[in-house]
Order: sequence, then C-alpha cells, then structure tokens
Amino acid sequence: MAEIVIVREAAVAGALVADEIVRLIRDKPDAVLGLATGSTPLPVYEALRPRLEGMDVSRVRGFALDEYVGLDPAHPESYRSVITREVVEPLGLDPALIRTPDGSPEGIERHGEEYEASIREAGGIDLQILGIGTDGHIGFNEPGSSFASLTRVKTLTEQTRRDNARFFDSIDDVPMHCITQGLGTILRARHLVLLAFGAGKADAVAGAVEGPVTASLPGSAIQLHPHATVVVDEAAASKLAHADYYRYAYDNKPAWQGL
Ligand code: PGA
Repeated sequence: MAEIVIVREAAVAGALVADEIVRLIRDKPDAVLGLATGSTPLPVYEALRPRLEGMDVSRVRGFALDEYVGLDPAHPESYRSVITREVVEPLGLDPALIRTPDGSPEGIERHGEEYEASIREAGGIDLQILGIGTDGHIGFNEPGSSFASLTRVKTLTEQTRRDNARFFDSIDDVPMHCITQGLGTILRARHLVLLAFGAGKADAVAGAVEGPVTASLPGSAIQLHPHATVVVDEAAASKLAHADYYRYAYDNKPAWQGL
C-alpha cells in the first residue's frame, strides 16, 4: 500500500516533498517531474524555491497532468499559464523542457497520443505530484475513468467545475472538457506523491487509501502502485481508519528509506 505521512500543516508537507525532489535532481539532473496544478501543490513549489537556489536545474524536465480544452493558452487560468507562473518562472526551469497537454481544439483527437509519445521519449516521469479532487479524481480522471487510460479528452463533472469556478469569473467560464494524463499514464510514473489538505478532502483520501480499488474513486488507483506516498494534514487524515498505525510506521521508518 501507499505510505501515509500525516503532518501538522501544509507547509510541513511542502518541505518534505521538496526535499525529496531536491534529492531526485541531485541524483539525476535531467529528472522528469510530473507537475500538478490547483491549490494543493503550491506549498511544494514554495518550499522548492529556496532549496533550488544555486542548484543547476537547467536540464530538469516536466509534464503537467492536464489542461482545459478550448481555453486560450494565454488565459491566466490555462494550466500552461498556471505552470509557467507558479512553477517554471519561480523555480528558474527551462520553459522549453516543461510540457502541458495541448488543449487546442484543432487536432485534439491526436493530442493525447502526442503527449504520451513525449513522456515516453523523456524516459517516463520520475516523480509525479498529485492532488485529489473532492470527487476522488486525480489529474482530471473523473469517477469511472479506466485504470488503463492514457492521455485523452474527458468531460469534467459538475462538482469539479464548481470546485474550480473560484479561479474564473463564474462557473459558466469553466471549460466543459479537459485533456488529462490517464490513470494508466499516472501509474507508469516511478514515484507517486499525492498531497491533500483540509477536511473537504478527508472522504476522498480515506477512499483512495483504504477503500476498495475502484474506478468510481480514481484516486484508489494509487493502491496499485509499488511506490506511492500520501502526504496529508490532520484534517485530510481525519477519516483514515488506520491513522495511528501510519503515524507509528512513519515515526519508526528506517532512515535510509527516504520518502
Ligand atoms: P485542489 O485540486 O488542489 O485545487 O484542491 C485538487 C484536484 O482537483 O486535483
């Protein structure tokens, strides 16, 4: 199963995951990062900034999980813009090495395969950062997504559009469709790091970690991965049945293991 790390607050989670990413880049200067958008990964990016100062990140590559379909890439809420603003610029990464799925309607039926080919050519993703939606989605893989799915177009649920309306003027401005790495794509990454903060994520986290492995809760796919780490605050951990054991296991973790 996944390793569950319960921390006091999001900033502690950000520091833990940032340390792991720094270790990865030290070992492999052309590491391939799987980047997530949304509020959840922000503490990781914030913690990375001072840690990467003075390090050579010129060869670090990255692939975003998803993108809206039909939103101008220059729109401030396109994931291309979000990744540029929140990750590429503050961390000093080379924009040419950071990809987001192409959400332009022109040729959209081919963009999933093209994205998969780029990930393959990069040698696969070393560490994939994940948030989880209140409906259990990872990436934009909504309930019912196949565990074998690769990057493709999906229809967002009403719940996801409501959750993301805060980034737009109104829910009507939230695109209906997205292009997202599939659960199969995500499961190919060598290390999954799923973060979740706040009571609103408690059900999704409990389902993903302890519930049955089911397409109805796409986050439960992490149970199939040999190296998945779940980092949550107390509120997001509040519905985990075995929280005491996870704390005990983490407190007694052999020092050589890393995350
Ligand atoms: P959030 O979104 O980080 O903004 O809560 C998570 C997600 O939808 O995957």
